[in-house]
Amino acid sequence: MAEDLKIAGGSKDNQYLSLIPQIKALLEGEPDLVANLANVVAALKEQFAWFWVGFYLVKEDQLVLAPFQGPVACTRIRKGKGVCGTSWEKAQTIIVPDVEKFPGHIACSSLSKSEIVVPVIRNNKVMAVLDVNSDVLDAFDDTDKKYLEDIVQLIEFE
Ligand code: SME
Repeated sequence: MAEDLKIAGGSKDNQYLSLIPQIKALLEGEPDLVANLANVVAALKEQFAWFWVGFYLVKEDQLVLAPFQGPVACTRIRKGKGVCGTSWEKAQTIIVPDVEKFPGHIACSSLSKSEIVVPVIRNNKVMAVLDVNSDVLDAFDDTDKKYLEDIVQLIEFE
């Protein structure tokens, strides 16, 4: 697929339902992980205009920054630290309505106000996390959790 992304309006459901088949088309037949992660974050950023969207990959005992869109960010996060490290440790999606109220939140930017982190799990192992930050409070809910969990399932990890 080499066409421009079609940006949908309307409800969150509507926006995700428009985006998911386009992400599938972008990933189809492409085995390169970095290329696929890069296109997934670009598509999410373009559709939703969130402040920061990116992946961290599990490498030994740390999360390491991977393809992202947005301002420069923290490079390495330890297991159990911040929202990302907690999502990794618990192997669960975490929604943070107000980052200032999350104990141990790692502030890569003071402009980030709310956050969702979705683990990428393969064979019961967390391989990566998808981290999304918004510059407005309470931007993420169970609709984002459901569709972002579906989207990370589409990515082929070795
Ligand atoms: N806020 C995250 C750190 C990563 S950045 O937001 C891009 C955390 O607490 O894990």
